Amino acid sequence: MRALMPGWPIAFLAVVLWLPGSLPAAAGQAAVATAHPAATAAAREVLEAGGNAFDAAVAITATLAVVEPYSSGLGGGGFYLLHDAASGRDVMLDARERAPGEASRDMYLDDEGNPQPELSVDGALAAGIPGIPAALDHLAGQYGRLGLDETLRPAIVAAREGFEVTPMYRRLAGFRREVLAADPVSRETFLADGELPDEGAIIRQPELAETLERIALDGRDGFYRGELAGRLVDGVRRAGGIWCRSDLAGYRVVEREPVVSRFRGFEVVSAAPPSSGGVAIAQILNTYRALERRAGELDDLSVPGLHYRVEAMRRAYRDRAEYLGDPDHVDMPIERLIGADYAAGLAVGISPSRATSSASLAPVVTEPEGPHTTHFSVMDSQGNYVAATLSINYPFGAGVTVPGTGVLLNDEMDDFSQKPGVPNVYGLVGAEANAIAPGKRPLSSMSPTFVRNDDLVGVLGTPGGSRIITMVLGGVLAATRGEPVAEWVSGPRIHHQYLPDRIEVEPDLLGDEQRAELEAMGHEIEVKDSFGNMQAVAWWRDGDRLEAASDPRGEGEAVVFDPEVP
Ligand code: GLY
Repeated sequence: MRALMPGWPIAFLAVVLWLPGSLPAAAGQAAVATAHPAATAAAREVLEAGGNAFDAAVAITATLAVVEPYSSGLGGGGFYLLHDAASGRDVMLDARERAPGEASRDMYLDDEGNPQPELSVDGALAAGIPGIPAALDHLAGQYGRLGLDETLRPAIVAAREGFEVTPMYRRLAGFRREVLAADPVSRETFLADGELPDEGAIIRQPELAETLERIALDGRDGFYRGELAGRLVDGVRRAGGIWCRSDLAGYRVVEREPVVSRFRGFEVVSAAPPSSGGVAIAQILNTYRALERRAGELDDLSVPGLHYRVEAMRRAYRDRAEYLGDPDHVDMPIERLIGADYAAGLAVGISPSRATSSASLAPVVTEPEGPHTTHFSVMDSQGNYVAATLSINYPFGAGVTVPGTGVLLNDEMDDFSQKPGVPNVYGLVGAEANAIAPGKRPLSSMSPTFVRNDDLVGVLGTPGGSRIITMVLGGVLAATRGEPVAEWVSGPRIHHQYLPDRIEVEPDLLGDEQRAELEAMGHEIEVKDSFGNMQAVAWWRDGDRLEAASDPRGEGEAVVFDPEVP
């Protein structure tokens, strides 16, 4: 071989360093954004003890389970989007609840076949088999560096010593006061003599601390088998639920391939079914891009940009209702739905000047989804990162805390279609893909997401029921415009979900003129109170700078710091 010029290695390296994708693999700092300062502090403690982003995810999940009992918990589920720096791999950890083995398609219908909505929202019959304890064990065992004894410690301390009631706690406990008051353990734990506790009052959960200690000691078996499993099943059945020991022993998290789409030179990585998030976001972005090809580059916040965004949302939510469900139970045309050809076809039917009536699209039933949930985003100094959206569905879930466990039950069964395949009063049919079946996971909107190009790694997500998808979309669009992370989480929001056929906006989004123009196009507009609680972190690779931001609508905390790993 011919001898290399003396300067060759340096010149070669310099070229390699500038090739796309070859920028530094980690920022050397860490960033955390969660919905509660105690969870952010737990992540910091674990990262400073030498843990990685996955250990931090365990600590945050468990701490949120203690201090945000209205949002998520050991009795709930969620989706974790993971990026493992060593392998370069993205994976979605599906810890969604599963329907118990005794669940049946019509379990929430009365003798006349009418849905009884309270049965799938309040009380033990509403609870799916939880996924969070299995996720903690999986994250620690497959990805973490530290033991659960170390990563669960901050949550155990918080459960035993207590946390302070905040304005958000009071608002959400107020919303669910009657349900909480009806359950002896929830009443004792979360209320004060059946009334709302004062701001600053301390909520202690010693039984939850013991349950966390069992998981720290025995991993998933500490929850899904043995004495605790027995208590859970007895308590649930005594309260009118249908859990069995085999449901708990058989629960598994599943690693799934995330849904990936491309937009404006960015890669958008998001949750796969049983979340509808990734598919819907891909479909909306593809349709918007097809419309941009026709109309020229769109200003996202102009009237044409908002009109086209809404029309793309309308169609994606219609398809979501018709096609999506648990991938282990239903065949879904995912490749077609997220394909460019399909989006181009949708774009053909979108007028530049007139709103489409949702009634003119092929009809399907849409189901309302629970309004509460939580999200966190974390990145470590080695380039691992996690976006996780976790839920027990309604604030304080089903309102039932199982005696002797500290476990507050979810009401995620409400995310199934209650009455699939039967025309409703509007003659709409559909939602068969999301019918209840034993062992099935209900369709979700939770959308933990990464948005990346050579300059940026963005990690984001939010709670908010069916609005999660359009809020995350707004954050992705802000990221592609190069806005700082604080803007992703705080920018005013716009939402359309096919039915009801109206645009929902936050008060600050539209000026009077913009609103009049959209109404003249045929859009109905409803101005809502602010919604969402987005948590995001970003690494701007070009300047090697980390940012983190917590939604000003919530009570969360975001930090960037040097973990000074020992
Ligand atoms: N329960 C809210 C969701 O899964 O989207």
